[in-house]
Amino acid sequence: GSELPPPPRGLDFEPVPPNTEDAVRVPSGYSSDVVIRWGDPVLDGAPAWDFSNQNAEAQEQQFGYNNDFAGLLPIEGSPNDHLLVVSHEYTNEPAMFPGYDEENPTEEQVRTAWAAHGISVVKVRGNAGDGRLVPAGSEYNRRLTVTSEFRLVGPAAGSDLVRTSADPSGTIVRGTLNNCAGGVTPWGTILSGEENFNQYFGNSDQVAEEPAATRLARYGMPEGASRRAWERFDSRFDVPSEPNEPNRFGYIVEINPWDPASTPVKHTAMGRFKHEGATIHVTDDGSVIAYMGDDERFDYIYKFVSAKKIQQGNGAAAMRHNMTILDEGTLYVARFDGNSPASEIDGSGSLPGDGAFDGTGTWIPLLRATADGAESLIDGFTADEVAVFTRLAADEAGATKMDRPEDIEASPRTGKVYCALTNNSRRGVDDNPRVDEANPRNENKNGQIIEITDDHTGTSLTWNLLLVCGDPATADTYYGGFDKEQVSPISCPDNVAFDPDGNLWISTDGNALGANDGLFSVVLDGPRRGETRQFLSVPVGAETCGPIITENRYIVCVQHPGELDDATIENPASHWPEGGDAQPRSAVVVAWKA
Ligand code: FEO
Ligand code: CA
Ligand code: CA
Ligand code: CA
Repeated sequence: GSELPPPPRGLDFEPVPPNTEDAVRVPSGYSSDVVIRWGDPVLDGAPAWDFSNQNAEAQEQQFGYNNDFAGLLPIEGSPNDHLLVVSHEYTNEPAMFPGYDEENPTEEQVRTAWAAHGISVVKVRGNAGDGRLVPAGSEYNRRLTVTSEFRLVGPAAGSDLVRTSADPSGTIVRGTLNNCAGGVTPWGTILSGEENFNQYFGNSDQVAEEPAATRLARYGMPEGASRRAWERFDSRFDVPSEPNEPNRFGYIVEINPWDPASTPVKHTAMGRFKHEGATIHVTDDGSVIAYMGDDERFDYIYKFVSAKKIQQGNGAAAMRHNMTILDEGTLYVARFDGNSPASEIDGSGSLPGDGAFDGTGTWIPLLRATADGAESLIDGFTADEVAVFTRLAADEAGATKMDRPEDIEASPRTGKVYCALTNNSRRGVDDNPRVDEANPRNENKNGQIIEITDDHTGTSLTWNLLLVCGDPATADTYYGGFDKEQVSPISCPDNVAFDPDGNLWISTDGNALGANDGLFSVVLDGPRRGETRQFLSVPVGAETCGPIITENRYIVCVQHPGELDDATIENPASHWPEGGDAQPRSAVVVAWKA
């Protein structure tokens, strides 16, 4: 309407319309470019990428597959230079290797896939004239893979639950798996979530004794062979052979990208589940809160509250201290209580009588880790068990079963916390949990965004749904109260980020409305609250992740272009980014105002 103030700074772009183009589209007046793609050189001397001639030795030196998280860290004293840290969530072998035989992968293919997972650190340089970022220099560059060394820290380190024949100490883990979203810490490190780690382990059905079998099932470990058959080439991926190996994955890992020789850590005090990621909020008194989602249907939102305070400065002593902050503190899981009568939450998605999906909530403590040891706060669980089988402890606590908690982050401006609940096709179906006010739609195809006003170090919260995503023309959607005729449709929110002015940005994965995924801005305050505009769309079959919004750049990871059920190497669904008849390649993209 005419009484509306102008959109916030930077949010006056002409929205990209929903589309199915095999391209990255940005608003008119903006440009975009690929920063780095699967197979590009990362380490000095890396061989050129050759699709028909891949091998592990080359991939270990090249940018990995399926980029997801991206973090951008300025390099002090070198204003155009940054470290770009990117996770490589998973491999899709049939789209990766010509002639791949799913029944009989070769050892070289398996080892190449190990090398294509993990994390890349790449130094990039900005252009003075435009927003382009190009790889520049290698002194910080690094690849972490499924075989790199990680140190297990916190309450579960050294426990009987994580000891293996290769590591009787229970403190040294080879590799990181399924690194999804993450966060940049205020002390200059990177947090990365080990998400769907279960899929890499085979033959869990051969473990029948309890409590092992129940624990394996709660974490969704595959029965029979794993899809990639890694267990044929390394017995640690065979659950009956090495039953504790899976207990060494599913953590938040922390990487110091400033020291390529440093050993990254896995923080067991932050619990073990399908960690989407973790982001940090620091209170005025220096306490550190990590917000985390467990991306599974009917799983939970967590937070970790540190016992230690952050140390300012970026010297070696401060870094050493700050990298232990996430080892001592309290792990909580969230319960959300609605304030409308249950009869008004009918699963249709229409608003209850008070006009809002909202209410109060409680953080239920699970585990307290201190320098002298850890204490379980859940009856029937030891501290080690809470750290390693966190989902089962949270079940006992009576946490609220959510519609797939993905990325969660506190606004740097207001401290309010936003979590993407991506979708839940099983809500209300068969014996699955019914709707509640925070998860108000049956067979939820489009997801929602929950806004939490948190007593960060405390246990109370209030909440409301900012967006109930989906087709704005239907009654089961809500766009923060904004006029739904004036918004871009958004579906399946996955990652959240904030621009320097505190506006929310959301990237999507799996758009259920028939168009490609994309990146959207959302106004949070004032009369335009809920106004959602699509800034960017990604190519066919891709998801949008890793968004970073700076003063002059919009960075996204374009993950799995061309990943459609009927796509093959002979008949790819996408040719992005090279075009022509090229194979699709996941890549990091930067956009800027021309
Ligand atoms: Fe890997 Fe939950 O997205
Ligand atoms: Ca209500
Ligand atoms: Ca994600
Ligand atoms: Ca995703």
